[in-house]
Amino acid sequence: MVGAIFSQSLTAAALLLGQATAYNKRYIDNSTGTPQVVIPGASSYNGLNLVPQMGWNNWNAFHCNVNETLLLSTAQNMVDLGLRDLGYNYIVMDDCWSIGRNSSGYLVENPVKFPNGIKDITDKIHALGMKFGMYSSAGVFTCGRYPGSLGFETQDADLWASWGVDYLKYDNCFNQGQSGTPKLSFDRYNVMSKALNATGRDIVYSMCNWGNDDPYDWAYTIANSGRMSGDIYDSFNRPDDRCPCTEAVGCAWPGFHCSVMNILNKMPAIQSRTMSGYFNDMDMLEIGNGGQSDSEYVVHFTMWAMNSSPLLIGTNIGTLSPANLAIYSNPAIIALNQDKSAGAAVRKWRYVVDPDETGQGEISLWTRSMANGDTVIALLNAANTTMMMNATMNDIFFDQRTAGAYQAPPQLSQTWDVYDLWANRMTEEEAAAVINGTSTLSENSTSRYNATATSYIEGIAANNTALMGVKVGSIAPSGTFSAEIARHSVGIYRLRSQGKASPRKRDEL
Ligand SMILES: *[C@@H]1O[C@H](CO)[C@@H](O)[C@H](O)[C@H]1NC(C)=O
Ligand SMILES: *[C@@H]1O[C@H](CO)[C@@H](O)[C@H](O)[C@H]1NC(C)=O
Ligand SMILES: *[C@@H]1O[C@H](CO)[C@@H](O)[C@H](O)[C@H]1NC(C)=O
Ligand SMILES: *[C@@H]1O[C@H](CO)[C@@H](O)[C@H](O)[C@H]1NC(C)=O
Ligand SMILES: *[C@@H]1O[C@H](CO)[C@@H](O)[C@H](O)[C@H]1NC(C)=O
Ligand SMILES: *[C@@H]1O[C@H](CO)[C@@H](O)[C@H](O)[C@H]1NC(C)=O
Ligand SMILES: *[C@@H]1O[C@H](CO)[C@@H](O)[C@H](O)[C@H]1NC(C)=O
Ligand SMILES: *[C@@H]1O[C@H](CO)[C@@H](O)[C@H](O)[C@H]1NC(C)=O
Ligand SMILES: *[C@@H]1O[C@H](CO)[C@@H](O)[C@H](O)[C@H]1NC(C)=O
Ligand SMILES: *[C@@H]1O[C@H](CO)[C@@H](O)[C@H](O)[C@H]1NC(C)=O
Repeated sequence: MVGAIFSQSLTAAALLLGQATAYNKRYIDNSTGTPQVVIPGASSYNGLNLVPQMGWNNWNAFHCNVNETLLLSTAQNMVDLGLRDLGYNYIVMDDCWSIGRNSSGYLVENPVKFPNGIKDITDKIHALGMKFGMYSSAGVFTCGRYPGSLGFETQDADLWASWGVDYLKYDNCFNQGQSGTPKLSFDRYNVMSKALNATGRDIVYSMCNWGNDDPYDWAYTIANSGRMSGDIYDSFNRPDDRCPCTEAVGCAWPGFHCSVMNILNKMPAIQSRTMSGYFNDMDMLEIGNGGQSDSEYVVHFTMWAMNSSPLLIGTNIGTLSPANLAIYSNPAIIALNQDKSAGAAVRKWRYVVDPDETGQGEISLWTRSMANGDTVIALLNAANTTMMMNATMNDIFFDQRTAGAYQAPPQLSQTWDVYDLWANRMTEEEAAAVINGTSTLSENSTSRYNATATSYIEGIAANNTALMGVKVGSIAPSGTFSAEIARHSVGIYRLRSQGKASPRKRDEL
């Protein structure tokens, strides 16, 4: 077994992030004892998107085949399936919506696809309690060769604001060579950032420059999220030469056809660059598009949530299967994503082992601290056989050691209750009933949640079972948590301390 251990000190990484270390303030969060770093300017530049955006985007399932009917029927379906009230509130239209510019230079929507105009669509989506996302490219053309916004930023931003647009996905095609250094990309994307701000309308700015020129190093002052990899495709771990990079940092050619595992494994190096108001976007979700098994889709959803990626459903909601609705609807997983800690997960270790027919095989342990002092761990088995996987308390709380002289983290002497976050997954029968409108589940059932009625933060504070999952045991001080994890699956657990260091009676497993 070839092993490698990866870990990252939050403090050291954050110091790298800050423009000037003199501005970095450290304080101890009294509820957890965890050192935190406050970096002025590193939270939302425009006050928007303090937790990752959620919604739907048509690209993965429909590509250019977007129109008024699709957007409006999807929005209505999302309300009916309870997805809006789980937090999926942006309907984002992707490429291929315009036919060019008129003689005054304004973009003109395709009148066949949008017979009533886009303003009419945003009005109807707003009436459903949802928000509308627009698409363009920081180039002379979009990726589908429709007019891009380079040189027309102010005019385009003004038009979208007049239509009631709430969100912009801004691509990177046909950029006239204005890329290759962080400065070139920053300056190009900043023009649109300024133009959006000048409209006076709240518009979430979602940069889609594929991780080119290391946006996680500079984009948090001008955008609300930034793609960190080439485009996803619906594969769990198959390598593809068109997605040549295995690391995010310094990837000169991000490409496309990047698998779930390829994108996930680019995240650990940039873990500290995820923050409230700026999220590393791992790209739109493929769940429902047919290329992966149920357990692989569960890994995809879980690890995107765990890393505070935006959660944009990328499939046909009108034909969503009960199993896939159950994945998208797990409120215990969404609650991680929407936690106000707004952080990404640390990959504590990774062993390359037991490859499958793609030549890929590995197991890894990921951890993340929640705002209320809970810790979440993910045991990921991307190897080809079932594994008994082990997380020691020492690995889980490795980052809580005092810098300099080693001191055992106080967490090691506490007992932690363990809650399985997939244990309350909605059954296929329940999900089928939701889809056909015959569900009798209460909004307070263990598998259903309404975040419009009760925010995730309030729900967690109230120990809502739909968010907490099912208690499956506890870990004694300095103990080890072990779980059997099937091939291409993940076990994800919320750990909650029973309290201060005084040893307590260990709960029955
Ligand atoms: C933590 O507690 C100390 C005193 O117990 C207090 O002075 C300090 O302000 C607290 N810090 C925070 C961030 O609440
Ligand atoms: C709208 O788009 C959907 C999805 O691509 C397609 O099935 C439908 O036929 C289109 N409707 C119209 C009126 O073009
Ligand atoms: C969720 O709660 C809101 C506000 O209470 C309510 O309007 C909405 O209908 C609920 N949604 C579902 C799916 O029950
Ligand atoms: C161009 O489009 C803009 C925005 O829709 C509109 O206000 C303007 O009248 C149009 N100009 C012409 C010449 O059609
Ligand atoms: C514009 O940016 C400023 C900070 O630079 C921010 O305070 C303000 O809320 C922003 N306005 C909009 C509409 O984004
Ligand atoms: C992976 O596991 C499957 C059984 O689940 C087996 O058929 C296949 O041969 C294994 N692949 C490799 C490369 O060992
Ligand atoms: C986890 O621990 C058990 C018991 O010590 C051991 O049999 C198993 O191989 C370990 N799992 C891994 C992946 O090392
Ligand atoms: C709706 O779902 C329930 C539960 O699966 C099923 O019994 C019923 O036949 C379904 N009705 C329709 C119209 O599909
Ligand atoms: C669900 O729980 C909330 C908060 O505890 C409560 O206000 C609401 O009435 C409950 N809804 C139902 C249908 O029991
Ligand atoms: C939630 O559970 C914790 C212990 O796990 C307990 O200390 C707290 O009082 C509970 N909160 C509520 C509102 O029941």
